[in-house]
Amino acid sequence: MIRKLQFFFLAFFCVFLLKAQPQKQFTPGEIWKDNNGKHLNVHGGGILFHDGIYYWYGEHKLAGKIGNTAQVGVSCYTSPDLYNWKDEGIALKVNETDPASEIAKGCILERPKVIYNAKTRKFVMWFHLELKDKGYYASRSGVAVSDSPTGPFTYLNSFRPNAGFWPVNVLPCHLKPVAPTVKDSYCGGKGCLAAPPDSLNLLGRDFKGGQMARDMNLFVDDDGSAYQIYSSEENSTIHISKLSDDYLSCSGNYFRVFSGRYMEGATLFKRNGKYYMIASDCTGWAPNTARSAVADQIFGNWTELGNPCVGKDSELTFHSQSTFVLQVQGKKDCYIYTGDRWTPENPIDGRYIWLPITFENDAPKIYWKDKWSL
Ligand code: GAL
Repeated sequence: MIRKLQFFFLAFFCVFLLKAQPQKQFTPGEIWKDNNGKHLNVHGGGILFHDGIYYWYGEHKLAGKIGNTAQVGVSCYTSPDLYNWKDEGIALKVNETDPASEIAKGCILERPKVIYNAKTRKFVMWFHLELKDKGYYASRSGVAVSDSPTGPFTYLNSFRPNAGFWPVNVLPCHLKPVAPTVKDSYCGGKGCLAAPPDSLNLLGRDFKGGQMARDMNLFVDDDGSAYQIYSSEENSTIHISKLSDDYLSCSGNYFRVFSGRYMEGATLFKRNGKYYMIASDCTGWAPNTARSAVADQIFGNWTELGNPCVGKDSELTFHSQSTFVLQVQGKKDCYIYTGDRWTPENPIDGRYIWLPITFENDAPKIYWKDKWSL
């Protein structure tokens, strides 16, 4: 009996020690446990560094296929070191009571990002929003705001960006009338367009109502100007769109890039005065080959640099899709590729692929690592 008790206490102590042991490294693709011992539920997200703390926002997913729709909202976790995360609960809740709400439970709410506006002292969240039961046709951007980084965020509105504005690099073909044969919407996937996006003039088609915005990201430049980067024109073309000074709306000042390249999961960062983009191809939840690009100015000219991933499974981005690039504060030249390894049959099980970005001849490179630390 005493032996049994001794064994029981020893086992209990070991479990306690294991639980209390802080993480000191990243383990891409493994289960990442929060302070409650649960796998982090923060998919397609983004990270904000504010007052010495990292805030990680992302899609809260459920088990089973229903988890591909927003049943709960946007989760938030905090960390002092990027390895150990505390669950701060739901920062933005879907509306459970009003089925007419734009963010009604069951809508699609993807790739949320939060930035801090120093002038208004507000935390501003943008996300890709699809209205409930409408598939991926709405292609809207949603905006929410909070006084606190952990929320609760108040939903403001949603729209298709830049209605009534031409991009700074508009082409003569866009200013011509749109052919009556051009459909109001296509299936949205690669290969569904009858002709290249410019010959269909999808930009002109959406001029009045606003541009389609699916996969999206935010980027804040050194001067405090913020930009939304979104997949537009039936996912065929990226738009880089400057936000208003309060970050709550579009300024109407935007730039088209990579037309016909079908880039998704685009994420923008800056290094040594140059702008970089890492993005994916357009194959839904299935992984594909990533792309990278560089520009001296955010509104072009962008030059593609090819697949940044190197080695085994590099053609599938190590079975992940780009989500966000984090520049680590206080560490020189330290950038982390963060991607999602989606599991659409059971979305809650999706894994996080974080890998260091190195630079070779000023081109970003990503190598697989089973375990690593900063
Ligand atoms: C991916 C996209 C995800 C999600 C998914 C739906 O290409 O990056 O955010 O929208 O398609 O199939």
